[in-house]
Amino acid sequence: MTILVTGGAGFIGSNFVLDWLAQSDETVVNLDKLTYAGNLQNLASLEGDARHVFVQGDIGDGALLKSLFARYRFRSVINFAAESHVDRSIAGPGAFIHTNIVGSFQLLEAARAHWGGLDALEKGAFRLLHVSTDEVYGSLGREEAPFAETHRYEPNSPYSASKAASDHLVRAYHHTYGLPVLTTNCSNNYGPYHFPEKLIPLCILNALAGKPLPIYGDGQQIRDWLYVTDHCTAIRRVLDAGRIGETYNVGGWNEKPNLDVVRGLCDILDQLAPRADRNSYAEQITFVADRPGHDSRYAIDAHKIERELGWRPAETFETGLRKTVQWYLGHEEWVRNVTSGAYRDWIAKQYA
Ligand code: NAD
Ligand code: DAU
Repeated sequence: MTILVTGGAGFIGSNFVLDWLAQSDETVVNLDKLTYAGNLQNLASLEGDARHVFVQGDIGDGALLKSLFARYRFRSVINFAAESHVDRSIAGPGAFIHTNIVGSFQLLEAARAHWGGLDALEKGAFRLLHVSTDEVYGSLGREEAPFAETHRYEPNSPYSASKAASDHLVRAYHHTYGLPVLTTNCSNNYGPYHFPEKLIPLCILNALAGKPLPIYGDGQQIRDWLYVTDHCTAIRRVLDAGRIGETYNVGGWNEKPNLDVVRGLCDILDQLAPRADRNSYAEQITFVADRPGHDSRYAIDAHKIERELGWRPAETFETGLRKTVQWYLGHEEWVRNVTSGAYRDWIAKQYA
């Protein structure tokens, strides 16, 4: 038995592949384009492991997908591949349309053709799980109830609009063709291998480098944070037992304003790697221009996945954030490698 994981060299995908192979001997074919966000170093511990087959390629490449489905006869597909950074979608939406919409469409087409040719038993067991985001629901007011699966779609950025489009395609392939799909809509992840363009790893690395910790606007925007391995557990649970055609919201019950998140990681750094002058890293917090169209609050109502599948996050924000800071402190070489060349260009342009 073999599964196809797309985008398995990125942040969540690589955590998922590592987690999967720590618990199962089922082969993973990992299809990843290796954009700036894909990093095979995340998977270095799997070198020489025959259960992990890496293929560099684009989910938008129909011919490649066809040959992979024919060769491996996947019993399931988990689609992580995406352009994932909101600020990059504002600076240049084209890649988001290519991968998140056209790529997801090509993947659905290849999966549909494959599934149509399976025998009844294999057909019944096949699943395509699409990994999506809470951002498709738009922005919540302070007093509004968290996003349930029934919340209307109101994406506000080119990133979230492209993910919303892919969610709709996934839904349509189930309703129209009967393809056995599952969708998860998750809140903000954090943890090991998080690319340092995103708030938490960016601020950890900037703090240690003595650079400003950039807070957009007033820092009062709220995100609901989930430790990445909890997300991986949720995806496995939905793949195993989720009801076909359903969507499951996944979140950490951890709503925090951005400023509190950054202050919290400064406190941990003050304990684990104090500044030479013994002042707090919080001194480096710097308010910068706001993100255009910045969503003010995301919060997930994760009751459905708990009720139906018995999933709840294992980490609290406090335990997860400490583990995350420790991971970055212990992985200097990984950090050095991802913060070279193209990364520096992006940071220079974004925070000019
Ligand atoms: P990431 O940017 O770290 O990784 C994306 C991976 O996809 C990279 O390895 C990249 O090389 C690969 N990729 C990009 N375009 C591709 C293409 N055309 N073909 C094949 N591979 C391609 O993203 P992430 O944070 O790991 O997010 C993974 C998925 O989870 C995305 O679909 C994202 O929308 C979703 N998600 C992310 C979060 C979060 O907080 N990071 C939360 C909810 C949902
Ligand atoms: O909610 C799920 C989403 O979470 C995923 O779908 C996205 O792929 C993922 O990138 C993440 O999106 P956000 O935009 O919420 O994450 P980011 O880390 O970019 O920003 C978190 C918050 O911090 C957000 O309110 C913007 C703010 N921010 C971000 C950066 C990079 C800052 O204040 N300063 C910064 O420099």
